[in-house]
Parts: sequence; structure tokens; C-alpha cells
Amino acid sequence: MEHTTPDPNPRPVANRLFDNDDFHRRANADDALRAYFRWADVEWDEEVQKIGQGEDRTAFLVNSIVYKLGSRASANAYDHQTLEAARRAGKPWAPPSCLFEITTEFGVQHVMAMPYIVSDGTDADPDALARMFKDAGDEIDFTNYSVINGQPIVIDGCTVRRGSWYA
Ligand SMILES: Nc1ncnc2c1ncn2[C@@H]1O[C@H](COP(=O)(O)OP(=O)(O)OP(=O)(O)O)[C@@H](O)[C@H]1O
Ligand SMILES: [Mg+2]
Repeated sequence: MEHTTPDPNPRPVANRLFDNDDFHRRANADDALRAYFRWADVEWDEEVQKIGQGEDRTAFLVNSIVYKLGSRASANAYDHQTLEAARRAGKPWAPPSCLFEITTEFGVQHVMAMPYIVSDGTDADPDALARMFKDAGDEIDFTNYSVINGQPIVIDGCTVRRGSWYA
């Protein structure tokens, strides 16, 4: 649909749904380490909650932040670098994220942190969805994004194709 007049009540863009400063204050190396211990079966920690299992990675919730770990070494770095570039470019489908490095006897393990993003039951706005696919390619399937207030938000940047916005 073509909008010819400005929307008097614009929907808040996803970029503002997740406050960068707040996210970076809350995501921390201690909680990343707790997720790692749980993932590696070193320690049972009641405050580390498993919330998802993908083909490559397991997602844990610790103090309301998602920490992801997996055995494919490049997944977390690709995901984080892609989302970070998209966010810098102002893409409304990109949440903030950060990467922690844990040095283990087997080498370096990356842990990616991102906000906990759960669909609120609204339908994806067709324009917003089309823009996300145009930016990021059509390999993103519905298990890899959530929808908040009509705005699709990527929760797994591994299938995002890096477009001209990537820098
Ligand atoms: N930020 C998040 N908020 C809420 N749930 C999440 C988040 N990140 C991941 N999850 C849950 O964990 C699952 C696995 O995470 P993710 O898709 O990142 O792993 P993956 O191994 O890369 O997936 P795939 O199987 O698509 O390759 C997701 O399908 C989702 O259910
Ligand atoms: Mg996935």
C-alpha cells in the first residue's frame, strides 16, 4: 500500500523497541559464562533457562537476556556482525547484540547475547515484511524472526544475506 500522507501516529520502529544502552548494560560476561557452563554440562544453574534449540545453537535466558551457544564456530560471529551492521544502517528488523569470548581448554567459544524477543501475536505488517526480505534475502524463515507490533524482528541473523548496507 502506498502512503501519500504522513501517518499521524507512526508505529514505533523496532530500532527504538530495544534500547541499545539498556541492552549493553544488561548483557554481561558473567551471565555469558553461566550459559556456557550450562551448555557444556559443567554446572546446573536454576537461573539459566533453556528457551530454544536450533540446528546449530542452543538459546538460554539469563536475567532476561538471551545467550546463544553452539559448536559451529562461525555462527555467532556471523550473526552478531550482520545484525550489528544492519542496526547501524538503521534497519528496523535488527535487534542489538553483542559477542563474548570464553577461552576454554578446547579453544575460544563465542557466546552471542541479544534481547529476548517474543512475538506479541500481531500480524506482520506486509510492508515491513517486504522491506525485511528485500534487505536480508528470503532465506529467513518464520522460526528466525518474531513480530512485535507488526514489525518483524530477526532473532537469528545466520540466514540474513548481507546487502549493500553491510559495512
Ligand atoms: N532472541 C531470542 N528471543 C527469543 N527466542 C529466541 C531468541 N533467539 C533464539 N531463540 C529461540 O531459540 C531457537 C534457536 O535459536 P537460533 O535460531 O538462533 O539457533 P540456530 O541453531 O542458529 O537455528 P537454525 O536451526 O535456524 O539454524 C529459535 O528458533 C528460538 O525459538
Ligand atoms: Mg534459527
